Amino acid sequence: MLIKIKDSSSLRDGDVTDENIYSDRRRFIKTSVKYTATGVLASYGVLPIISSNDSCASIDFSSIKETSYKVKDKLTSLKSVTSYNNFYELGSGKKDPKLNAHLLKTEPWSITVEGHCNKPGIYALEDFISPSVLEERIYRLRCVEAWSMVIPWVGIEANKILKKFEPNSNAKFVEFESIYDPENLPGQERRVLEWPYTEGLRIDEAMHPLTIFAVGLYGKELPNQNGAPLRLVVPWKYGFKSIKSIVKIRFINTQATSAWNLSAPSEYGFYSNVNPDVDHPRWSQKKERRIGDFLKRKTMPFNGYADQVAQLYQGMNLKKHF
Ligand code: MTE
Repeated sequence: MLIKIKDSSSLRDGDVTDENIYSDRRRFIKTSVKYTATGVLASYGVLPIISSNDSCASIDFSSIKETSYKVKDKLTSLKSVTSYNNFYELGSGKKDPKLNAHLLKTEPWSITVEGHCNKPGIYALEDFISPSVLEERIYRLRCVEAWSMVIPWVGIEANKILKKFEPNSNAKFVEFESIYDPENLPGQERRVLEWPYTEGLRIDEAMHPLTIFAVGLYGKELPNQNGAPLRLVVPWKYGFKSIKSIVKIRFINTQATSAWNLSAPSEYGFYSNVNPDVDHPRWSQKKERRIGDFLKRKTMPFNGYADQVAQLYQGMNLKKHF
């Protein structure tokens, strides 16, 4: 059972103080989250295939590894990162996810792994989160709607987790699925999208060192509105690929489903690599509004990560495979 020390959905404006402390000296507030595997697993009647040695693991947000994966851009304020959101399950307005964050139940939480791998099963959250591997990644997030932020995530390189399930040679793509709970999530009462929200990556994209599973931001547990308890972050793609509140991972051999691609394929491509040269049919992608800035800035190919990821798409026509 994941026991939260504080309801992360109730971040108040005063929490911005933490952001200042954070920015000054990178000193993380010591928050320890304790949880046990037993309750979650008992409720599903399964044992994890990958299991923590200890029945009580702890995430200590004070011992997050620093890495060189840091853009130099000014950080977007904690307040903006946690109150200007896209999370349609919690409503389609930018303020709705924070207002409705308490409706997302993250305890207990388990993740089902299926498809072409040697270790499918239902896993408890702690099988994904080993305290020793948490690291900070400061990434740009570029939304397809032409706004952007810079967010200090706390997470784990996705390939470190995905490899544990031993995907086989048929696993050409990875599909992710978000929580489906229409009784509690107000956005799922309406068919704005095909629920549950799904997203997918090619296996080499999922295994790329830049792709992470995030469990926190600004040195603390991930707020519900940002996709607690576990979300994907793929910094060179439009933000909708960074699926929140993941409950299922599927290794498949055909192109994965994507909720936005299903709803409007001519507007939201499967790849959705940030590309200033391919406009959205209804607006330009050449520039973006960095939240907190007055003037717009130029959008960079692959969101500024071209040197690290462009080779994944060598020989592909990126206007066709947008
Ligand atoms: N994941 C789910 N399950 N539901 C959503 O509506 N919105 C996406 C993505 N992940 C979304 C989602 C979009 S459009 C963006 S831009 C990012 O989440 C926004 O992440 P943020 O709110 O943490 O900035």
